Amino acid sequence: MIIKTLGLQNFRSWRAGHFRFSPQKTLLVGPNASGKTNLLEAIWVLAWQKSFRAKSWPQLIHWQADGAQIQAEVIAKTGPQRLGVSLWQKEGKLVKSYLVNGAPVKRRQFHHLAAVIFRPEDIRFVRGSPARRRRLFDRILAGTDWQYHRALARYQRALRQRNQLLLNNAPAGQFLFWEKELAIQAAILQKQRYRLVTFINHYWQTKAPTWLPKLRLRYQASVINLAQLQAQRLHDRQQGHTRFGPQRDDFALFDQEGDLALWASRGQQRLAVLGLKLALAAYLAEVNGEWPLILLDDIFSELDEDHQEYLRQFPWPGQTIWTATTAISDSWEKVVEIGARLEELGTRKKQKP
Ligand SMILES: Nc1ncnc2c1ncn2[C@@H]1O[C@H](COP(=O)(O)OP(=O)(O)O)[C@@H](O)[C@H]1O
Ligand SMILES: [Mg+2]
Repeated sequence: MIIKTLGLQNFRSWRAGHFRFSPQKTLLVGPNASGKTNLLEAIWVLAWQKSFRAKSWPQLIHWQADGAQIQAEVIAKTGPQRLGVSLWQKEGKLVKSYLVNGAPVKRRQFHHLAAVIFRPEDIRFVRGSPARRRRLFDRILAGTDWQYHRALARYQRALRQRNQLLLNNAPAGQFLFWEKELAIQAAILQKQRYRLVTFINHYWQTKAPTWLPKLRLRYQASVINLAQLQAQRLHDRQQGHTRFGPQRDDFALFDQEGDLALWASRGQQRLAVLGLKLALAAYLAEVNGEWPLILLDDIFSELDEDHQEYLRQFPWPGQTIWTATTAISDSWEKVVEIGARLEELGTRKKQKP
């Protein structure tokens, strides 16, 4: 899928902006705080209906406005589409609406754009908490598989209920319903997580570019079944929560030398995350039947020159949008020439006619 144009009104720092993208590579260049990441964030909202950095929706609206709008022309599998997202503050509440070709649709019908992003902060997927890794994989799985989406919602609900019963010292009879539900939904979640991990490992073994380290993802599932849940009830009561299950799953990234979270340098961890994002893009390509949009935000800032060059030369299978702050080196300009064209370099100060 391809994003052709993007229009922004009062989205973050953008009072108004209109952009056109190359179907291959587009580089957005601008100084710090000129709104490059904000622009990628708007594309992200179109793809995933959430932000990759805002804690709440109102943060996405320009400080001096009551509402924000994002519009895009995309070429999806389903043909050309005009997508829109509007955010409005109304009586202290935030109202969102999703539009396809001008007509309002429900959020779950709004999936014409798939995207993967790679950002310097993403190193947290290696070093950060297990919850961060679970969220990443959950988003990919829930966004591509409605059964997973439903199982996740049901599991989380049952988990809240059982934890409440544990805290309330509820009688044994009240547990059975929720424990059955936990066991059923956990099996669905863990089967799909396992499938995704298998896909990623297979991708790394067979298709990953040679300049990436040899990577391996190990799925550490916290498996539960009904009998175990029942047997653990007493101990869980003492702890005040359910100690086993998908909410405790983790995923560890390895290269040939070991667990990357434990010993690898920042540069090595960054490459591992890049490898992970590439694998996730390949997964989306497989399930959607077309490559997702790949967003690369400010990635040159911390990669060594060799890897910057590998990345620029990499035959990206889909559309890519890059951001960078500084003057472009000769070798980069060459890449720009072969595919990318920055149609408009809008900053808040400067607008091209
Ligand atoms: N809701 C908002 N309204 C107005 N400006 C905002 C809003 N949110 C962020 N900004 C501004 O956007 C700028 C950061 O933009 P960003 O896209 O991160 O820049 P960069 O080009 O460095 O990626 C900051 O100056 C910040 O103050
Ligand atoms: Mg930025």
